[in-house]
Amino acid sequence: MMTEKTDDYNFETGILEAGAYFAFSASEPEALPIHMSTAHNVKDLDDLQKRYDEHGFCYNRNRNPNRTALAELMTYIEGGEASIACSSGMAAISTALLANTKAGNHILSDKTLYGETIEIFTKILAKYGVETTFADFTDIEQVKKGLKPNTTLLYTETVSNPLISVPDIKAVSEIAHANGAILIIDNTFMTGALVKPLALGADIVVSSLTKFANGHSDAVCGAVTGAAKYVDKAYELQVLLGTQSDPFSSWLVCRGIRTLNLRVKKQAENAAALAKMFEESEYVEAVYHPSLESHPQHELAVKEFGELFGGMLSIELPEDRERMNKFMDNLHICHYAMTLGGYRTTMSYPPMSSHSDMSKEERMAIGISDGLLRISVGIENTEDLLNDFRQALEAAYKS
Ligand SMILES: Cc1ncc(COP(=O)(O)O)c(C=O)c1O
Repeated sequence: MMTEKTDDYNFETGILEAGAYFAFSASEPEALPIHMSTAHNVKDLDDLQKRYDEHGFCYNRNRNPNRTALAELMTYIEGGEASIACSSGMAAISTALLANTKAGNHILSDKTLYGETIEIFTKILAKYGVETTFADFTDIEQVKKGLKPNTTLLYTETVSNPLISVPDIKAVSEIAHANGAILIIDNTFMTGALVKPLALGADIVVSSLTKFANGHSDAVCGAVTGAAKYVDKAYELQVLLGTQSDPFSSWLVCRGIRTLNLRVKKQAENAAALAKMFEESEYVEAVYHPSLESHPQHELAVKEFGELFGGMLSIELPEDRERMNKFMDNLHICHYAMTLGGYRTTMSYPPMSSHSDMSKEERMAIGISDGLLRISVGIENTEDLLNDFRQALEAAYKS
């Protein structure tokens, strides 16, 4: 629809005005459109004031319809009061942490985490006077002992990267709250479709939406969800730091999330079947997946997650580079990719990816050997997937 006055203009003005607005009121698209505009026009100063009062759309860095849609979706999925959508999982993690700490605070964090999250503590927050110490969050006594009088924040992951350990969220949140601290949980590996850490006592959930939430390996995005009092602080900081998700990525992630529930169920079922096969294999030295009775936190995982234990698992193979290469070269369905949570099965090698910044000794101290492979399980036919791994193990290790 052309704007009314276009006919009155010269061509060089008309070319700027024609089609600039179309009748939204007459259009109720079935799918959410992409709103790429950096700003939204306001009628007059009263309209501007109204936008401020009602958190309307003015400037993209503050608010954008696609980002708001994604934030609302995340609030629903995680069962929080509010959310912000961020440019990546790391943007969500750093924004949530910086917004909820100040100089003099102490953070107690789990020792096995996504490697770059550890670097936020040791390389960024440390510079601003926030100290972090690390403990094994699967050992509640260690968590209690790790507290200091100035501990204001505890941090862990629902299922840890890459060792797939499971902390007791309820118990850790009770310890945090009894000491006046808050608990932040990274729920990237499970998502709110499988477990809701906020309902178990966490105060803030951070997520890399790049992974299972989007599920299609084509967008980088993150979110902070929780009680409004914490998310509002993160929003204020996000506007200043510019950690917001862009409209197209927000749109892609909203689109991906529509099938999250179906995908994560199939991924969890495939992962459990694969874990069982690996456990029975003579070539695999260790398997980490909470579905297995041999997993140290299996009973807790049943309590926290029910019957579905997520799509992430890790295996340990003998530390023999040549045979590991042969194993990987012989896989056809599973591909090596430095990401996770997509619809296809992928694997990565933590010593040369998420934990490459650590020395071998540091990695061994948290249980990451040079034979560890992390597998993100997809939605393929279960038998096809098992056969692919079976034949690659045989090809590499049958002497
Ligand atoms: C558990 C976890 N949290 C956060 C991140 C960071 O997410 P992003 O790459 O979207 O910044 C990752 C990345 O792999 C991750 O595995």
